[in-house]
Amino acid sequence: MLVIVKDSYDLMSNEAAKIVADRLRKKPNLVLGLATGSTPLGLYKELIRMHREEGLDFTKVTTFNLDEYVGIPPEHDQSYHYFMWENLFKHINVDPRYVHIPMGMAKDVDLFCEWYEKRIVDCGGIDLQILGIGANGHIAFNEPGSSLGSRTRIKTLTGTTRMDNARFFKNPNEVPKYAITMGVGTIMDAKEIIMLANKASKADAIKASVEGPITAMCPASIIQLHQTAFVIVDKEASTKLIGLYNDSWESKVF
Ligand code: GLP
Repeated sequence: MLVIVKDSYDLMSNEAAKIVADRLRKKPNLVLGLATGSTPLGLYKELIRMHREEGLDFTKVTTFNLDEYVGIPPEHDQSYHYFMWENLFKHINVDPRYVHIPMGMAKDVDLFCEWYEKRIVDCGGIDLQILGIGANGHIAFNEPGSSLGSRTRIKTLTGTTRMDNARFFKNPNEVPKYAITMGVGTIMDAKEIIMLANKASKADAIKASVEGPITAMCPASIIQLHQTAFVIVDKEASTKLIGLYNDSWESKVF
């Protein structure tokens, strides 16, 4: 695990974009794991700029999103399908046939989850997974208490997470109670991981993930066991860390 502290949200986002672009240039048919939430928006903005101005090519890329709300159709403006198309996919030259986002409207959720896991394997596994982190230490929708070996499945969202996400919905009661999410084990199978966090509200979660005990009560703490994970944070999210950390990924060896 390599922890990188940047001075601002933009610098954090650009640092992550540099890694994604580097991996994509080395492997044009990269299998990219993607996240929603406000945190990766700066990264997506920078990737769009690189696509437009530097010709960063996504035509051969396969994507897998971490999660999706259950019971919300893809065209709903709070669905993660909608989020991904609005904030990234429609601005780059990704092939829609290679885009995978869990189907929140699946009739048989368990069967869908089994298929999703198999599809990831059939595509060669995720090369690089982007992750945000919830204020309670959740990754994707693996809430505290999630098994550290879990696979893609349906999860009940905690009150905290529903409250955190209520700001996006017209009425807080509309926030779904369930989501389909890749498991902690699924995420850990990615060959590389970039976990991003900004703002003071994430400082406790980052401290617990990077320097705390590895525990299901903070699912993000499992990242300490990943051989090739980058944790890139802004200054505000880093304030509770006591270790000394890097400010760049280039030329650093794990
Ligand atoms: C949701 C998503 C997570 C995301 C988290 C944090 O719960 N399922 O993948 O990391 O929110 O969101 P934000 O980046 O907006 O703080």
